This record gives sequence, C-alpha cells and structure tokens, in this order.
Amino acid sequence: MAQHAVFFVAGSAFFLYILYTRLALYLSRRAFKKQNGCQPNPYVFNKDPILGIDNILAGLRSSKTYTVLEDTQNKYKDLGSNTFHSRLATMPVIMTTEPENIKTILSLKFKDYSLGAREKAFKPLLGHGIFNSDGERWANSRHLLRPNFARDQVADLDAFERHFKLMLKHVPKDGSTVDLQELFFRLTIDSATEFLFNHSTNSLRMVGQDEADNEDVIFSKAFGVAQNDTLTRIRLSFMYRFTNQTEARDAVRICVEYVDKWVDDAVRWRQEKDAEKAAGGEKDEERYLFIHELAKQTSDKARIRDELMNVLLAGRDTTASLLSNMFFELAKQPELWKRLREEIAVLDGRLPTYEELRNFKLLKWCLNESLRLHPVVAANSRLAIKDTVLPLGGGSDGKTPLFVPRGTLISYTTYAMHRREDLYGPDAHLYKPDRWANLRPGWEYLPFNGGPRICLGQQYALTEAGFVTARLVQEFAKMESRDDGPWKEGLTLTCCSLNGTKVGLFN
Ligand code: HEM
Ligand SMILES: *[C@@H]1O[C@H](CO)[C@@H](O)[C@H](O)[C@H]1NC(C)=O
Ligand SMILES: *[C@@H]1O[C@H](CO)[C@@H](O)[C@H](O)[C@H]1NC(C)=O
Ligand SMILES: *[C@@H]1O[C@H](CO)[C@@H](O)[C@H](O)[C@H]1NC(C)=O
Ligand SMILES: *[C@@H]1O[C@H](CO)[C@@H](O)[C@H](O)[C@H]1NC(C)=O
Ligand SMILES: *[C@@H]1O[C@H](CO)[C@@H](O)[C@H](O)[C@H]1NC(C)=O
Repeated sequence: MAQHAVFFVAGSAFFLYILYTRLALYLSRRAFKKQNGCQPNPYVFNKDPILGIDNILAGLRSSKTYTVLEDTQNKYKDLGSNTFHSRLATMPVIMTTEPENIKTILSLKFKDYSLGAREKAFKPLLGHGIFNSDGERWANSRHLLRPNFARDQVADLDAFERHFKLMLKHVPKDGSTVDLQELFFRLTIDSATEFLFNHSTNSLRMVGQDEADNEDVIFSKAFGVAQNDTLTRIRLSFMYRFTNQTEARDAVRICVEYVDKWVDDAVRWRQEKDAEKAAGGEKDEERYLFIHELAKQTSDKARIRDELMNVLLAGRDTTASLLSNMFFELAKQPELWKRLREEIAVLDGRLPTYEELRNFKLLKWCLNESLRLHPVVAANSRLAIKDTVLPLGGGSDGKTPLFVPRGTLISYTTYAMHRREDLYGPDAHLYKPDRWANLRPGWEYLPFNGGPRICLGQQYALTEAGFVTARLVQEFAKMESRDDGPWKEGLTLTCCSLNGTKVGLFN
C-alpha cells in the first residue's frame, strides 16, 4: 500500500511538474507575443500536420519535373502571401520572401539562429569548416580565412587568363555548337584548386582524353558525387538512412585523401620554414598562398583540410553556374553581345585590369541581372535556436510581427523574392540587364547573402566571371543560342541551366 502511495505521489508530482512547465511556457510566450505585437499567420502549405510527408513527396515530384523553384514560387502566389507555414518531416517551417524578415534572420537577430540540419548533412564532406559551423567555431573559421580574400589575392588575373586560354582551345571558332557550361565547370574547379592548393586539377587539359586513371580527374568526379550525396541527405531528410551509401562513402574518402596530400605538403613547408628561422636563415617572403597561410596559423591538418574543402564547395559550382546561366540568356539576346563588344572595345584587344573590369557598366548589369533572375544559391534556411520574432508575416495581410518558436526552420526563397513583381515590376521574369540603370536594391537582392555570413568570395567570383565574359566578348564577334527551349532549373546545391549552355560562337 505504502509503496503504491509513493508511486502515486511521485507520478502526480511529475505530472504537475510537466503541467507547470507547459503552462509557464505558454504564459511566457503569450506575454512575449503581446509585447512584440505578434499576430498568427493563417497561411499553411502542408496538409499532413504530423510528418509533413505530403510536403516531402511534393518536393520529390517537383524535382522530377525540374520545377522545384517555380513550384515554390507558385506556393507563395497561390496562398497570396509572402510568408507561410510549412513542415519538413517533424520540423515546423516558416517560408518567407520578405526582405525585412531576411535582414532580421541574417543580421539584426543573427544570434537567434543556427544553420540547423545543414550541419549534419554536410558533415561527411565538410567536417567543421566555415560553411558548416556556428557560433565560436564559425567566428574562428571566418577570422582564419578572411585575409585570404583581400584584393591582391582575388585579383590574380594572370591565373584566370591561363585557365581561360586552356578553355578557349575547346571553343570552336566557326559557330559549331558547344556546351559552354561543361567548360565553365572545368574552368572554375581548375582555378579554385589552384587558388586553394597551389595545384590545379587542370581538367581543361584533359577534355576528351582517356582520363580514368588521372588522380586530379578522379578527385573532380568524386567531389561531384560527394556534393550530390549532401544534397540527397538534405532532400530525403530522415529517409536517407534507407538508401545505398556505398558510392558516397568512397567518394568522400577519395576527396579527403586528395586534399590531405596538399595539406601534408603545406604543413611540411611550414616546419621547414620554422627550422630555417630557428637557424637564423630568413629567406625572402614567398608568394602568398592560401594553403600556406592556413598552415602558418594552425598545424591541425584536419582543420586545414576542412576549411579548404568548404571553400572549394562554396566557390566552385557557384561561379560556374553564374556563367552558364548568364551565357544562356546572353545567347538569346544578340544585341547585348554587340553592346558588350562596344563597351569592351576600349581595351583595344589587350587584357582588362581589375579596375577596368569593375567599371564596365553593362558587364556588371549583365552579371547582376543573371544573379537576380537565376540566383545560384536559390534558397537557404536558418533554424531558430530561441523564441524570437520576425517583423513581418503576422496577420492575414502579413504586415504585423510573427512569433517564431524555438526549433522552427526559417526557409527564405531568394529565387521567389528576386521575381516578386511588386519589387521588380511586371517584367520580373525577364532577363533585362538595363533595369540596373535605376536599381539600387537593399535586402530584396541577395545573391551573396548578407550580414556577418555574407559570401567571402563575392569579389573573387565577380572578378572571375567578369574576366571570362570580357575575354570571350573580345575573342568572338557573335554568339548564337543553340537551345530553342526556355531556361530550366538544374538544381543541386546550386542552380544552373539544366540543358547546359549550348551556343555557337563566331570570330
Ligand atoms: C557567383 C558566385 C557565388 C555566389 C552566388 C555565392 C553565394 C554565397 C552565399 C549565398 C553564401 C551564404 C551561405 C550561407 O550562409 O548559408 C556564401 C557563403 C560563402 N561563400 Fe560564396 N558565393 C559565390 C562564390 C564564392 C567563391 C568564388 C568563393 C571562394 C573562393 C566563395 C566563398 C564563400 C564562403 C567561404 C562562404 C561562407 C561564409 C560564412 O559562412 O561566413 N563564394 N556564398
Ligand atoms: C606553386 O606551384 C607552382 C607550380 O606547380 C610551383 O612552381 C611553385 O613552387 C609552388 N609554390 C610554392 C610556394 O610552393
Ligand atoms: C548527381 O545526381 C544526378 C541525379 O541523380 C545525376 O544525374 C548526376 O550524374 C550526379 N552527378 C555526379 C557527379 O554523380
Ligand atoms: C550499393 O551500391 C554499390 C555501387 O555503388 C554496389 O556495389 C552495392 O552492391 C550496393 N549495395 C546494396 C546493398 O545494394
Ligand atoms: C550589383 O550587385 C552588387 C551586389 O551583388 C551590388 O553591390 C552592386 O551595387 C550591383 N550593381 C549595380 C550596378 O547596382
Ligand atoms: C535542349 O537543347 C537542345 C539543343 O541541344 C534543344 O534542341 C532542346 O530544345 C533543349 N531542350 C529543352 C527542354 O530545353
């Protein structure tokens, strides 16, 4: 009897404790909402409120028809709201295209958010590098990497020219059809690996050759497979565990071993340098190398490898995608090519300088317009790590603040925001570089993100893309599209033209 009574009392106490904490949470949240003037948001996309299975399936269907971005944009349109509720497996999601909300997540209330599920999905390939960590760890990485993106490092036009020349060899001069996209992807991995490791994969040297046993080529391929796997993990969420992971595991191993070789070299270099210094024999300062700078600051090999892998992932497909999307659009508007030729004619055939590249107005408009219409990082998200509030999205008109409970994923759709007609006009879906003559956008234009985690490689990317474009414009009098269809999304972690960039060029 006495025993039962003890259980009964303990059980009731536990029950009361739960009730009490729930009630306390409810009351404090009610006060928090009131204090911030929050209103509920009545727009909900998913119908399965428990697991959001319908949402996962809809996502898979959209990816089969290559319309994930368009379908997402249509959700906003159909619901008639720039902010709505959804669900990813068991996680509550808030979708938004409000610049003010995005500014709040990325900048004003930066500390209320983390990267969320991305960390786990990226971990096999990226470990704990900048792109994949939060808090102190991220701040550390950012501090470590930032100096490598100073102007002198990212403006190495000689390196870009070397890779460009190799690319040019594969571009027919007589107007026969070529897929520039494939060449752009080779160019950017070649230049990024040289920038990061001081060793280029030189994949442009090996177009069409029997490449199977070349370690650089094996690495490039494995890196693609490993990236794919990361995406699969994100897309399938908890269902990923049921897939066959053999290929992905092998790919990650190949990537790690390849990069580790360069890291070993760099750490050895640093040790020799230290030994020389100890012996009193200071040598002349050598050329600045990304990997050497990292080795100077830490001897933790895994750390250096992780950071290099992160920057390679962040920098490679992105720039290639920008180029392939932009050339897809340029090829459809021959008059733009003509005007670019006129703009760049002042060079009289010589190579552009860094400053000149920055000052070609139409060239800049073309790049900006491509990143608006086809943002290569088309969507992104952050996880609320405490109860917080968004300035917009509450109420049926979405004009009042919205309460965000801890554990909510905020997914912001750059693609849909960049195509909002109320922000960019009724022709928002068209590629029109000239609109930039009057545009001075703030947070409604976000190809490189904003706030403390803004892209570190923005200048590198715009310099490389601008350089390659200027050089192609110099080399060829005319470009024609060889693709009758409209642009379609080729969505991986980044977004490029699904059907490639098929053009004909004439000199
Ligand atoms: C057109 C080309 C590019 C675009 C559109 C782009 C876009 C972005 C975006 C949207 C982010 C934010 C990701 C997030 O926080 O969730 C980002 C971060 C980053 N990007 Fe880029 N990027 C480009 C090229 C590059 C290049 C060429 C490099 C390096 C060579 C690079 C290095 C980085 C790094 C290191 C970060 C992480 C910054 C941090 O978390 O603190 N990016 N980029
Ligand atoms: C960088 O690579 C080039 C080409 O392989 C090589 O000649 C040079 O010595 C390397 N630089 C350093 C500092 O290791
Ligand atoms: C990535 O996945 C897609 C679709 O599953 C496939 O078509 C593509 O070949 C894969 N890329 C690599 C490098 O494995
Ligand atoms: C998984 O895929 C690999 C090839 O990538 C194959 O060799 C293996 O048999 C597959 N395993 C299962 C259980 O299907
Ligand atoms: C192009 O976009 C960048 C940001 O990506 C911005 O800083 C710049 O002002 C834009 N250019 C023009 C001409 O508005
Ligand atoms: C893809 O490109 C080919 C040219 O190689 C073109 O004929 C076709 O219309 C394009 N397909 C789509 C769906 O855009």
